[in-house]
Amino acid sequence: MNILLLGGGGREHALAWKLAQSRLLAGPEDRLYAAPGNPGIADHAELVELLLTDHASVVRFCNDQRVGLVVIGPEAPLVDGLADTLRAAGVAVFGPSAQAARLEGSKSFTKKLCRRAGIPTAGYVHARSLDEARAALDGFAPPFVLKADGLAAGKGVVIAESRADAEDALADMFGGQFGTAGAEVVIEEFMTGEEVSFFALTDGASVLSFGSAQDHKRVGDADTGPNTGGMGAYSPARVLTPLLEGEVLERIILPTVRAMADIGAPYSGVLFAGLMLTSEGPKLIEYNCRFGDPECQVLMVRLEDDLGGLLLACAENRLAAAPPVNMAQDVALTVVMAADGYPDTPTRGGAITLGDAEAEGAKVFHAGTALQDGELVASGGRVLNVTATGTTVAEAQARAYSAIGAVDAPDLFCRRDIGWREVEREKTD
Ligand code: AMP
Ligand code: GLY
Repeated sequence: MNILLLGGGGREHALAWKLAQSRLLAGPEDRLYAAPGNPGIADHAELVELLLTDHASVVRFCNDQRVGLVVIGPEAPLVDGLADTLRAAGVAVFGPSAQAARLEGSKSFTKKLCRRAGIPTAGYVHARSLDEARAALDGFAPPFVLKADGLAAGKGVVIAESRADAEDALADMFGGQFGTAGAEVVIEEFMTGEEVSFFALTDGASVLSFGSAQDHKRVGDADTGPNTGGMGAYSPARVLTPLLEGEVLERIILPTVRAMADIGAPYSGVLFAGLMLTSEGPKLIEYNCRFGDPECQVLMVRLEDDLGGLLLACAENRLAAAPPVNMAQDVALTVVMAADGYPDTPTRGGAITLGDAEAEGAKVFHAGTALQDGELVASGGRVLNVTATGTTVAEAQARAYSAIGAVDAPDLFCRRDIGWREVEREKTD
């Protein structure tokens, strides 16, 4: 069949790489298309120009090219209802409806659903005006967790140490710092513990565990500096033991899937739960309605099953008949190479020579690259995801950094300690 993959970052390069190995694309006539894609994705897919906000043109392309499955990578087109338009046109699509994508698109929607379904998460107040938000601070102790309600490209969360900082941040949010995303705000109780990500595939009724990962959100070593989209990840995150994973499924994921079906918005796609492992057990920090970036990269490297078959089964509501997902025992670890200045103002255009980075089995996913006069250059904040495997996190980490040593890119930087928590734990194993 023909498959269309939407998006153009490191997550989509990993998806394209894995989809290209699918039996769905094994025939001589089968095509993988990607829009907009990137130079790395071009190794596996035919790049096409499609405006993702122009839903009619995406449907037209699918009809013209007889596309049998659309895989939507990023959250914005999902929240915007692209999956709904495609489904209405009879195209199988991996990704939730706009109603279901509210689990990522609206923090207050998710908090309300958790409260109704008894899902463990931080206590909260939903404020619709600056006055209401200021008054609500009385009910919380510092540090104050303040979240713009809508999509804010991962930047809509402020943790304020003092009441004065919290009031300033609220004034910024209601003043339009995050556009309409900050017109409503959620104030939350601060949770402490280790963070971990958990992924589940669901067709709205059945749920398949898709494994765990740990991201590194701060830009600097030892988790310092501003938040980013993620500077590196590894999978599995062993701190989420099988016992805890069972608890996450029973107390968080399954009640969410049931609650979404109950309100007439069944969730179909990948449900990405950001979790805090607190002393009272795992609690939900937030949901995302897509694979994580760079968590997807490490999951795809470990996945032993046919990704195309799994995503199509999900799109066609056939997960009840699907066996559990097989992930390699090995650890996968990815290090993000970002452009100098990221996350504020990344420099663009820096030259990149990949050299022998992949020679020893590492995989370099392109996140923000472009071709300029035939040469590879940086075109985004996060530029490359250098990914390796090993029997331990320490081994995968050593291989990833060795591959990075082979990359010649003077305008890129990376954290040097991706995986540090687990590397420390491995020392005492
Ligand atoms: P989010 O975009 O909701 O994942 O929040 C970004 C980051 O803020 C999370 O990865 C956590 O590190 C932190 N965070 C969010 N909510 C809380 C909370 N209620 N308590 C403590 N930290 C939080
Ligand atoms: N790496 C975090 C995310 O994709 O949201």
